[in-house]
Amino acid sequence: MDYFKGEVSNMSEKVFNFAAGPAVLPITVLEKAKNEMSDWHGSGMSVMEMSHRGKAFGEIFSEAKERLKKLLSVPDSHEVLFLQGGATTQFSAVPMNLMGNGGIADYAVTGNFSEIAAKEGAKYGSVHIAASTKAGGHSGIPRPGELKLTDGAAYFHYCANNTVYGTAWDYIPDTAGIPLVCDMSSELLSHPVEVSRYGLIYAGAQKNMAPAGLTVVIIDKAIAGRERPDTPQILSYAKQIEKDSMLNTPPCWCIYILGLVLEWLEDQGGVTVMAERKKVRSALIYDVLGNSRLYKPHADQAARSDMNITFRTGDAALDAEFIQNAKDRGLLNLKGHRLTGGMRASLYNAMPVEGAAALAEYMKEFEVTHHV
Ligand SMILES: Cc1ncc(COP(=O)(O)O)c(C=O)c1O
Repeated sequence: MDYFKGEVSNMSEKVFNFAAGPAVLPITVLEKAKNEMSDWHGSGMSVMEMSHRGKAFGEIFSEAKERLKKLLSVPDSHEVLFLQGGATTQFSAVPMNLMGNGGIADYAVTGNFSEIAAKEGAKYGSVHIAASTKAGGHSGIPRPGELKLTDGAAYFHYCANNTVYGTAWDYIPDTAGIPLVCDMSSELLSHPVEVSRYGLIYAGAQKNMAPAGLTVVIIDKAIAGRERPDTPQILSYAKQIEKDSMLNTPPCWCIYILGLVLEWLEDQGGVTVMAERKKVRSALIYDVLGNSRLYKPHADQAARSDMNITFRTGDAALDAEFIQNAKDRGLLNLKGHRLTGGMRASLYNAMPVEGAAALAEYMKEFEVTHHV
């Protein structure tokens, strides 16, 4: 299979950017945006200069929305929203809209972001921790039988891919009718999703989709309109659905780039191809980890993420040397999050397989020269 389709590397000097987000974007998207920067399709204007209510931006907006719906087979029951405020704003919007006054919601805590989401939820009602991996350093994901669900919970919230710890759910929790709410910030568009199973999906765009500043929300329209009376209108899903995400000025530039990324994704073969490609990329790194006496993976084997791979040597000075030497050869941003330390390689859609291969080679070389 041709995994590159011309996406040989992200920069002319063969630099690969493994940042967790903001993160690598397809080079063809950046080039296209550069060419259209000062004059979008003969309009004489940059997308940055256009009215969000004008015809030109209207086309950009609806094309991006339609592309996203098509790529993820979003059913008519669900609405796609393009909002501001990042995934963090959704930590508050979700309980304000869905918990009801003083209601109960179940949260699975499998990393720092789901923990923050649960704490935020607790400001608006009762949060019940349905499962937590904290005691084990968030190296695993709860198995289906370990989820302790609450009768009558307003929703069940989980984070599909834990960016900091490098773990991912490999199944959709069965909540017996309780609406599923999922933070998919670091994996949306990396594989097909059964959208109809979810009440609400949200994702900050700056990892796998677009520049920072855009949050994608996919919501079952049937669960909108239940917000607390004191919910700010900007956080009301019902209001945003009514106004087609144009209650105020949307993140126009980010939506435009998202549209280009989605066009690129279609051209690459869609989310099924992304799912195959992410396995190819992550296998290159996990193979090295599996055969290594130097590197220790953070995630349990059964909980491994394909998008963010976390590992360390166990020696902070050696980790720092690994990261510095990697940088010197154009393998950038491999430093792990401060909560985990060590290294983290983020392998989003726009990371060419060639980038993962270059990292795998470097890891092997580093081990040969540094393992004692
Ligand atoms: C899984 C996940 N959720 C939430 C967030 C927070 O996103 P934002 O910075 O868009 O608020 C991040 C950011 O790194 C993340 O990785």
